[in-house]
Amino acid sequence: TGYITLDPGYGNTGSCLSNITYIDGDQGILRYRGIPIEQFGNGPNFIEVAWLLIFGRLPTEEEYRGFAADLNANANLDEGMKLHFEGFPRAAPPMAILSAMINALSCFYPEHLELDGHDSLRLASARLISKIRTIAAYAYRHSQGLPYIYPDAKLRYVPNFLHMMFSQPYDQFQCDEVVRNALNLLLILHADHEQNCSTSTVRMVGSSQANLFASCAAGVCALWGPLHGGANVEVLCMLEQIHQGNVTPEEYVRRAKAKEGNTRLMGFGHRVYKNFDPRAKMLGEAAEKLLANLGRTDPLLDIARKLEEIALQDPYFIERKLYPNVDFYSGIILRALGIPTNMFTVIFAIGRLPGWIAHWWEQNQTMANKIARPRQIYTGNGQTDYTPMAGRS
Ligand code: CMC
Repeated sequence: TGYITLDPGYGNTGSCLSNITYIDGDQGILRYRGIPIEQFGNGPNFIEVAWLLIFGRLPTEEEYRGFAADLNANANLDEGMKLHFEGFPRAAPPMAILSAMINALSCFYPEHLELDGHDSLRLASARLISKIRTIAAYAYRHSQGLPYIYPDAKLRYVPNFLHMMFSQPYDQFQCDEVVRNALNLLLILHADHEQNCSTSTVRMVGSSQANLFASCAAGVCALWGPLHGGANVEVLCMLEQIHQGNVTPEEYVRRAKAKEGNTRLMGFGHRVYKNFDPRAKMLGEAAEKLLANLGRTDPLLDIARKLEEIALQDPYFIERKLYPNVDFYSGIILRALGIPTNMFTVIFAIGRLPGWIAHWWEQNQTMANKIARPRQIYTGNGQTDYTPMAGRS
């Protein structure tokens, strides 16, 4: 027993040693395996970054091509798995389907229930990273009552996803380079963020030696909540509300400051970043660039900029060091790509998956892995006698 320190939300508890991702919240620094996030702004693709996170270094060309080939070879879902979609109501939340289907992979790939080295990790990762995208697209198609579109092995990761989302039979969705680059960057910027709620969940579940699929399915559930990945949906709802004239930006900020009905300025604030979130900066710029390249405008981007301007000058936000986070601008990009709002957090999950795998594996490889088992400080009754039913009032 001994002395237990109370740390609600684990704000001050280091739960593990990790060499995957570095964050300096005061300086707004984020690095994957030592590489500053800004260096991923132009060029690298999501699959390279996934490899970097999982295997600890950038892939050689041969490794990259081999991994990309594995992804393509494993993009289809088992026909048996596809039947599961039919059982879900049309209006089922896609995050629920995503989590259930990732867990279901445990049934279809029993050979991955225990991973014993680089090769088995590589194949399990390729399957998971490839299939999460197919599952996501099929969840959307099911919600729309549309036929499922098979993956196309000629396409790269992002265009293949958009193809499965938006192609019609005999009418293939043409993925513009501008569109590909925007979604590629968005996935990269979501790929890992050290011990956030969902990654800690993956580690916690994995600490009991639960398999990779089960652990990642749990990560999806943790990500779903509005204080974590679900915030990107809430941001869009907030911006829409303002756009429809139901509330002004000034009034919204006032309500958030007054904590009226638990209102928060969604997409603002972070447990670790206390200066700025470099991902928000990059995504804000990327949203502007994407809209300009598509020759479009979006009133929601103007509203977001206005909210940011008001909040960053307000003592409430300044004193609490609250800045836009990754979810503040991501929805503007996803909207421009035609992704429906209820799929936003699913896209976050696709992006975060390599991070979850990397952390699950890092923990799995650690000799010092201990089952996660926090303590508590009990505040309930002292010893109390059982009262038979007849004697209760
Ligand atoms: N709007 C208004 N007030 C806020 C906000 C906000 N978005 N965020 C924090 N505060 C206030 C909070 O009420 C508290 O005030 P007080 O000192 O008067 O009690 C103070 O700032 C500290 O907040 P906290 O809730 O103790 O901070 P936390 O580190 O526990 O929470 C957070 C971090 C991200 C959950 C929180 O800032 C938040 O709810 N933000 C809105 C939801 C959001 O955007 N989530 C996405 C997070 S980033 C991506 C991800 O991880 O998914």
